[in-house]
Amino acid sequence: MEPRDLSDHSVYRAGRGIEEVARDLGLDPEALVKLSSNENVLGPSPKAAAAIREHADSVHLYPKSSHTDLIERLADDWNVASEQVWLANGGDGVLDCFSRALIRPGERVLVPRPGFAYYAMSARYHHGEVTNYRLSKADDFEQTADAVLDAYDGERIVAVTSPHNPTGSVMPLDEVERLADGTDEDTLILVDEAYGEFADLPSAVDLVRERDDVAVLRTFSKAYGLAGMRLGYGLVPEDWADAYARIHTPFDTGELTCRAGLAALDDDAHIEETVAMVETAREYLYENLDARTWESQGNFVLAEVGDGEAVTDAAQREGIIVRDCSSFGLPECVRITCGTPEQMERAVDVLNGVIDT
Ligand SMILES: Cc1ncc(COP(=O)(O)O)c(C=O)c1O
Repeated sequence: MEPRDLSDHSVYRAGRGIEEVARDLGLDPEALVKLSSNENVLGPSPKAAAAIREHADSVHLYPKSSHTDLIERLADDWNVASEQVWLANGGDGVLDCFSRALIRPGERVLVPRPGFAYYAMSARYHHGEVTNYRLSKADDFEQTADAVLDAYDGERIVAVTSPHNPTGSVMPLDEVERLADGTDEDTLILVDEAYGEFADLPSAVDLVRERDDVAVLRTFSKAYGLAGMRLGYGLVPEDWADAYARIHTPFDTGELTCRAGLAALDDDAHIEETVAMVETAREYLYENLDARTWESQGNFVLAEVGDGEAVTDAAQREGIIVRDCSSFGLPECVRITCGTPEQMERAVDVLNGVIDT
């Protein structure tokens, strides 16, 4: 007995945790600053953490009302019907829902290169195939409908990441609309807004309300600081929203996860503080890093440092963990998560000392 042929499948290499790195380097975990996974360095919404504690005693029950309440709350916030909100196990889980609902065996998805690895992985898990469109460094990773349409060849799903990981660029809404107009009726434009709270850009949910071929992905992992809870959602066109009930069980988002999400949505102060910190950090990095940077609308900044792997290793030895972008096809770059002013000062100090080593 053997699994099916998985030779096409790549392994998801998550950023290493603080404890792991500290152990390897013989450092005190307290001395390390992790700026490699675009988490919220301020921690979770305090209201969400309180809700998790408060509901710990009810986890013997299936997550019924909390699931419904969260869906209704999100539907209300986004002004869509509750059927149009697809809750899932993080943004990754949302991608799996789209793959499950849309991809027939052998159909292709078109994904950005450089780009977020899980688009391709999810498609392959679901018997799909993968093609790429390029975002070019020479154009500062600008995202236009034409750049995508040049590569488009009838794929079933086209992924647009706005703000884009790892570059921070965005695709304006009129370009998303042009892209949807320029693709077949049977193609979904999936707008991944995992970093949407940090962007000065309207959500593509405006298009979801008007059309049947645009969907949006959002997550609680970034601005809300709930990466460990695994909570994301899709906003999908009304016409095919009922597919959700056929591709998932109502219990795949846990009780504490739903409770945390509901509480986080009521924590405006935490979001405001987070977004303000990110804006300050981005400016600090542009101005102070001895490296070319790109203007970012996410909670991270891409920097061209020469040898990304060498700089990442050297910075790590001094307690600063950033993301080497070799796996994105940008071996000359690192991606730095935005942190507190103190963390940014220390990160810049360390990075400037090791750039071009
Ligand atoms: C562009 C993008 N989309 C989606 C995700 C998925 O995040 P999660 O599964 O934690 O919600 C990430 C995570 O880093 C991301 O960078």
